[in-house]
Amino acid sequence: IHAREWISPASVTYVIKELVENRTVNAFAPKLDYYIIPVTNPDGYEYSHTKSRLWRKNRRDPTKACPGVDLNRNFGYMWGGLDASTALCSEIYRGKSAFSEPESQAIRDVVTKIGTSAKAYIAFHSYGQQIVYPWGYKKLLTNDSADLDKMGKKMAAAITSAGGPAYTVGNAAVVTYAASGVSSDFAKGGANIKYAYTIELRDKGSKGFLLPATQIVPTGKDAFAAVKTMSLELIAGA
Ligand code: ARG
Ligand code: ZN
Repeated sequence: IHAREWISPASVTYVIKELVENRTVNAFAPKLDYYIIPVTNPDGYEYSHTKSRLWRKNRRDPTKACPGVDLNRNFGYMWGGLDASTALCSEIYRGKSAFSEPESQAIRDVVTKIGTSAKAYIAFHSYGQQIVYPWGYKKLLTNDSADLDKMGKKMAAAITSAGGPAYTVGNAAVVTYAASGVSSDFAKGGANIKYAYTIELRDKGSKGFLLPATQIVPTGKDAFAAVKTMSLELIAGA
């Protein structure tokens, strides 16, 4: 969803590979349905490859002075609150209205179509090594936040068991900062999906968005460890 966060499409592609091509080891995979969208901001992703490596937003109004909407400020749950700008030139421009963008509409529509049978939602971003849960729009916990915290800590433990680094687990607004109109708040508050997370992948800032290629597969393993653990917990009845 954020163009420059290249490790996210790479990591979820690694997750797809494990689920599809490693079915003997990952026997749990056919027991659940996975909907994985590797790139939710194709125009921005392309632009970050061809024109501007650190582009974040989509490419709304590409011929105007300040193109782009921050798609992770455009979702229709608590849209227009903290850390969301009305200024077109801002990196966190929220857009004209909630769900004004085709990219956020597409995520909304697929999530809504899957409906309440969806047990979990994970938005992969970078960077920071954090597993965070709602709410993101302000420092406020959901009434089931103990369940989300427990699941988050299981995912973080699985990452370290698989040889990965430490990921911080907690409320999104507390661990990072309050930000409104984000996709995981919509998944929780708008679509009623219980286990809604944003996972900020590697690293903690030394390379940041410019994560070296040697870290692609290791970070994919972080993502897969998280997905696998949540899957096993859900199959077991969480
Ligand atoms: N880094 C993400 C962004 O700026 C955070 C989204 C979820 N976190 C939150 N505090 N709402 O879009
Ligand atoms: Zn991001």
